[in-house]
Amino acid sequence: MRSHHATNDVTVLAHAEEIPGIGHLPVNAFVLHAEQPVLVDTGMPARREELLDLLWDAVDPAALRWVWLTHPDADHRGARDDVLAAAPQARLVTNFIGMGILGITRQIPPERVFLLNPGQSLDVGDRTLTGFRPPLFDNPATCGFRDDRTGVVFTSDFLGGPQPAAEAAMADDVGDLPEREVAAAQQLWATVDSPWVHGVDRTRYADSLAAFGTPDVVLSTHLPPARGRSAAFLETLTAVPELPPFVGPDQAALEALLAGFEAPAQRPASAGTRANA
Ligand SMILES: [Fe+2]
Ligand SMILES: [Fe+2]
Repeated sequence: MRSHHATNDVTVLAHAEEIPGIGHLPVNAFVLHAEQPVLVDTGMPARREELLDLLWDAVDPAALRWVWLTHPDADHRGARDDVLAAAPQARLVTNFIGMGILGITRQIPPERVFLLNPGQSLDVGDRTLTGFRPPLFDNPATCGFRDDRTGVVFTSDFLGGPQPAAEAAMADDVGDLPEREVAAAQQLWATVDSPWVHGVDRTRYADSLAAFGTPDVVLSTHLPPARGRSAAFLETLTAVPELPPFVGPDQAALEALLAGFEAPAQRPASAGTRANA
């Protein structure tokens, strides 16, 4: 993991998670240094300790006021309990569905939760944050937000793209990466993360992309920070409903892959091998 600044008032806590056959997926959390500091997502469970080290370098636990969980998937809720335990003033921003899903593993005291639906705003002292549902998502609780002071938009899984190497996945700016590769990665991710996209009404889908607009800075949990790229990203994603659906490796492919890793001496005789009598 590494931390860097996406803007004057946003710290990125960047991690890259390798997914076999897919690539190195950026898994970011963000600290928004508002008057009332906000942590956006909490990383992977297996990377809790590293995330907490970087997080408490970026913000005093006594000062942290909000943990905006863009949705309760495992790659976003990793350090949730640790953060709430260490930051007594912090409240978890989610919605009714999110609270229910989170409660499956551990109930959160209601006084530590703030329920916010898309379209509603949170006052964090020097600005308001307005929630919205991104055009693509993989969880019914998903809620990104717009920072009404800076215009920066936090998009959750939307606009994500796995990269060929961990260094690229943790880059300072997606503009440092080859544009074509990024576009292909975003299209792949869209079909992996939102397989329902192939069945949508095309006009309504296009409307949802148009409604996202073209904010200057977009911060996705699964992409390096992006500046001035929104229009290109929306064009890239317009084609996604027509792309072939993602189909993962099946059991035969898995066995073939595993066989390739085994030393010849450990490999069982194949079905076609005849034993000597
Ligand atoms: Fe997700
Ligand atoms: Fe995610």
